[in-house]
Amino acid sequence: MNVTVIGTGYVGLVTGVCLAHIGHQVTCLDVNLEKISLMREGKSPIYEKDLETLMHQNKTRLTYTTDYKLAYSQADVIFIAVGTPSNPDGSANLTYIYEVADQLATHLDHDCLIVLKSTVPIGTTLQLHTYLLQHLLHPIHLEVAFNPEFLAQGRAVKDTLTASRIVIGTESESAQKQLTELYCRFNAPIVYTNWASAELIKYASNNFLALKISYINEVANLCERIGADIEDVATGMGLDPRIGKHFLQAGIGYGGSCFPKDTKALYHLTKQLDEAFRTLKATIDTNEAQVLRLINRIPTYYPSYKDLTIAILGLTFKPDTDDLRDAPSLSNVKFLLQQGATLRAYDPVGMPNYQKIYPKEITYCSSIKHAIKDADLCLIFTEWQEIKSFDVSQFALLMKKAIILDGRNCYTLSQFKDLPVVYSSIGRTTLNQL
Ligand code: UDX
Repeated sequence: MNVTVIGTGYVGLVTGVCLAHIGHQVTCLDVNLEKISLMREGKSPIYEKDLETLMHQNKTRLTYTTDYKLAYSQADVIFIAVGTPSNPDGSANLTYIYEVADQLATHLDHDCLIVLKSTVPIGTTLQLHTYLLQHLLHPIHLEVAFNPEFLAQGRAVKDTLTASRIVIGTESESAQKQLTELYCRFNAPIVYTNWASAELIKYASNNFLALKISYINEVANLCERIGADIEDVATGMGLDPRIGKHFLQAGIGYGGSCFPKDTKALYHLTKQLDEAFRTLKATIDTNEAQVLRLINRIPTYYPSYKDLTIAILGLTFKPDTDDLRDAPSLSNVKFLLQQGATLRAYDPVGMPNYQKIYPKEITYCSSIKHAIKDADLCLIFTEWQEIKSFDVSQFALLMKKAIILDGRNCYTLSQFKDLPVVYSSIGRTTLNQL
């Protein structure tokens, strides 16, 4: 089939490249010429494992363009994968979706299936369908579907090619049939629903995962008070197949482009509907508090931030991505800078993006050792493999005072046996060996 994907962010580009990989002819459309030029050279504008390799392997089936008329002219199926950022009140901003809708309504001159892939508030597919029909310039037949994605950054290609499920939300048999054909070479279970259910599956899945994280984080906080160990507790819970071991990793809270935004967007919607979604509110509140849990411990060790040199290991919201959206490091760094601390940071891939936000306020270091050298304190915000495999004896050797506050439980307590350090993590005993 001829497929056009509008928007070449994580969702759009990965979807486009994976659809090309299973044999479709795909045009990736974006307004950003810089990104399009990069992709034409075979380079991915995002840091995502295996993406460039697949772009290269399938280059004869992939076209990148900013020319929307060209992109729409041959398409049998058009995916909308533009951003839906948060408004200040937490609701989803649909401006980009409706800009695309205007363009489609004006320029489409042949029958086509429009597939909404961006995460949108419940009811948006219906509204978009109505809007398109009202604004169509040409007498054509348009079908609309909602088809959410469940890919996680850092493993987006794998998550797409070996999807846990494909959700096809339609209100007509022909749209359902066309999407089934499009995806037939993906070997994944397909869930057929109407528009509203498909929209809710996306939100409910993300929010359930966020709830699971907030829950385990509160269990971890309790562990600290009663002398329990969250790693043991999570293992003991996760072996129950009804609970499952995934998303029980306690830490300083979730970040990223989805969980913070989607929890707030669904909460906003439920408030409008006068439905008290109490667990959702609790998830959001818990996460906001959890993100600041480490820095609240700093006054235990130092009376003032003014003369402190703090090493920060890990800036991105999780490993294997250069994405900083809602990364827990951000609110912590903002606070520490306001307090007058001196910051030295290291992240394997996140530093160029961080430099765009804080060009001069932070010293960016070339290695973990470089960052912790002579520091008074070390904060860990992301569990990069490089940080997890770091030789912990170096903290004691290189830091001025080896106080390590680990927000991602990168090390076992036994690794610090006999070392002159303070090691304070999430949901475990603090080692005070200085
Ligand atoms: C998430 C969903 O996993 C994905 O299905 C959806 O399509 C988009 O949102 P992503 O945001 O890329 O994907 O990352 P994910 O791996 O889910 O992690 C999100 C955040 O939760 C990260 O900050 C991570 O550190 C945190 N997290 C995750 C935990 O704190 N504990 C866990 O056990 C798992």
